[in-house]
Amino acid sequence: MTDDAITARAREIAEREAATLLERTPASGRLYERASNVMPYGVASSFQANDPYPIYVRRGEGSRVWDVDDNQYVDFHGGFGTMAVGHAHPKVVEAVERAARTGTHFAATTETTVALAEELCRRFRLDQVRFTNSGTEATMEAIRLARGATERDVVLKIEGSYHGHHDAVMFSVVPNSDVIGGREAPASTPLSKGIPADAVKQTLVVPFNDAEALARVLDDRGAEIACLIMEPIMMNIGIVLPQPGYLERVKDLCAKHGVVLIYDEVKSGATVAPGGASERFGVQPDLSCFAKAVGGGAALGAFGGRADLMNEITTGVAHMGTFNGNPLSAAAGLAALTEVLTDDAYEYLDKLGTILAEGCQRAIDDTGIAAHAVDLGCKGCVSYRREPLTNYRDFLECNVTLFEASWPWMVNRGVFMTPGDEEQWTISVQHSETDVNLYIAAFTELCQALTG
Ligand SMILES: Cc1ncc(COP(=O)(O)O)c(C=O)c1O
Repeated sequence: MTDDAITARAREIAEREAATLLERTPASGRLYERASNVMPYGVASSFQANDPYPIYVRRGEGSRVWDVDDNQYVDFHGGFGTMAVGHAHPKVVEAVERAARTGTHFAATTETTVALAEELCRRFRLDQVRFTNSGTEATMEAIRLARGATERDVVLKIEGSYHGHHDAVMFSVVPNSDVIGGREAPASTPLSKGIPADAVKQTLVVPFNDAEALARVLDDRGAEIACLIMEPIMMNIGIVLPQPGYLERVKDLCAKHGVVLIYDEVKSGATVAPGGASERFGVQPDLSCFAKAVGGGAALGAFGGRADLMNEITTGVAHMGTFNGNPLSAAAGLAALTEVLTDDAYEYLDKLGTILAEGCQRAIDDTGIAAHAVDLGCKGCVSYRREPLTNYRDFLECNVTLFEASWPWMVNRGVFMTPGDEEQWTISVQHSETDVNLYIAAFTELCQALTG
């Protein structure tokens, strides 16, 4: 079948499966009516919204979640890549229960928080660390630190990367092709209304996997640039791996120009390897940002790195927050990192991840659909483009119609996935081979339905 014929088939499947999904989820529909009276889009965060309404979740246990209609799913959504420990893991539950019994909040640092700081420093090879409540706060604080240390204002980011929802990084996150500018000089395009017009002057954008483009910007404006913030593996447009030598060259260029290199490991930290992407690729940045999986499912973020930079906090760079290092979050994070996400756990996650990615790739190869699967430990994805992606502009070539068919198809077959085409699956330590085989079976049937 031609790609066009497959796309036409995908359109039919998307329509049929979306109708089936509505029939299966009337209680979500009703909760949406209620929720949208009091919350825009009826959700707590716009990333949770979906058309015509989102699936509302009642509970989770192990690798499973149940929606408010009592439909059961194997969870590959993983709370946007947070739940590498799986749901209600006994070790995390025990730690949180114990912490709750001895006081949920003091705004004074507890020993658990100190122990978690030690574990983060050990795991991610940081001299020092500070806590936040989210990935957004972590990147915001790291950027302020870099600006304070360098006494420069301009932030450099990668086209197509998401680093949270503060103004400095809300540029060129998912820009449409008509506003991205030329390949040589990508435009800084705001993602939101409400960002001061002047902010655009403070955030420059470069393409991923293109050290020469970075070198040109740094030669031109290096003296104004405080930091480069980047995901070492792009994880908000499917998964884009760094090409061999790219991360090393980026580090050298930043060092040459006195630009602080910040890794945003909010998604990759504690998922793609015990020590995150910096361990997996062997390149250590100046500062790193964490959230999601490091909190074991609690609201926790952190940033840390070189002692001389972190020391800026004692000499004039502000960092504060009532809930930073909160004992409940710290207990969940410490249990997750020291008792659940052990070295053995990563071997297990790698094994399951490879089974899943290889199973999906087999279905793609057997049916010839324009897609490829990526295997990155407990993270992975199918992107609807034949060749692997190297940057954001490749992502724009993915076939969105195939995604629109695959999402309701998978959900209707008991596979819970994130609603956006830019996300990827997350496997937890509580997933089994049966769970990943269920995903493979549903995906294989989809490929056959698209081409049969
Ligand atoms: C790479 C990356 N950085 C930062 C963030 C922001 O984290 P949070 O949603 O915890 O503020 C996200 C969230 O998805 C992310 O994927």
